[in-house]
Amino acid sequence: MLEVENLSVSYRGISALEAISLSLMPGELVGLIGPNGAGKSTLIKAILGLAPCQGQVLFNGIPLRRQRRRVTYVPQRSQIDWDYPVTVWNVVMMAQTKSLGWGRRPGNEAKRLTSAALDRVDMLTLKDRPIGQLSGGQQQRVFLARALAQQAELFLLDEPFTGIDKKTEAIMVDIFAELSAQQKTLLVCSHEWGDNLNRYDRLLLLNRKLLADDRPQAVMTMDNIQRAFGSNMPSRFTQPRTMRLVS
Ligand SMILES: Nc1ncnc2c1ncn2[C@@H]1O[C@H](COP(=O)(O)OP(=O)(O)OP(=O)(O)O)[C@@H](O)[C@H]1O
Ligand SMILES: [Mg+2]
Repeated sequence: MLEVENLSVSYRGISALEAISLSLMPGELVGLIGPNGAGKSTLIKAILGLAPCQGQVLFNGIPLRRQRRRVTYVPQRSQIDWDYPVTVWNVVMMAQTKSLGWGRRPGNEAKRLTSAALDRVDMLTLKDRPIGQLSGGQQQRVFLARALAQQAELFLLDEPFTGIDKKTEAIMVDIFAELSAQQKTLLVCSHEWGDNLNRYDRLLLLNRKLLADDRPQAVMTMDNIQRAFGSNMPSRFTQPRTMRLVS
């Protein structure tokens, strides 16, 4: 179980997250939603210990930073340097190299995990392709394969559904359900709004503070959306057709 207690982040004196407390149970698929700049990526980075923060992050009662191998992270696509000259196979193999230690040659088990993970996301045939020469959806699938190969217990995914095709979306939804059935914990950032959010067991609505933490239908209220977005409400919520989606 992941417990985040009183987590605050400031960048050069400007508060990005204020006293966030939450817990995630094994097998839970949780959506982290909020507008651009709400602090979604910052929260994920702070949980990983990659952002300057105050507060505690415990995994099964022990600070998560002392057991980094149990957590895997799929970064937001805009934060990755796609010109980096590395093949699909090596991107996924890196998940194993971390636990092997640099300089040691990967063994058969690492190769088997890499191959199985790439096959699971239907990317094995492109294993020798440089990562920069893939479509957005294919890149996202490779990063998901990398997370799978790491065999972590906690999955943190930053906007995995942004800019992908239907095939990639279907593969990801399937894999999330499988992982959740295996009692893995998943926290998935999203700035999309609408029926898709019903795929989560629970939603966390963020805008610098945690504004709501409940079942999707309970979080997707007009009142909560207004509190999170203020005057920047997504246009779909100002149109009568979609008003029915929220109570
Ligand atoms: N390294 C940094 N240095 C200074 N400020 C930062 C840094 N990273 C993020 N911020 C600021 O912190 C706030 C939260 O940013 P963050 O990237 O976490 O938002 P987000 O919810 O992930 O947004 P998006 O939907 O656009 O991905 C923003 O105001 C951003 O400008
Ligand atoms: Mg972000």
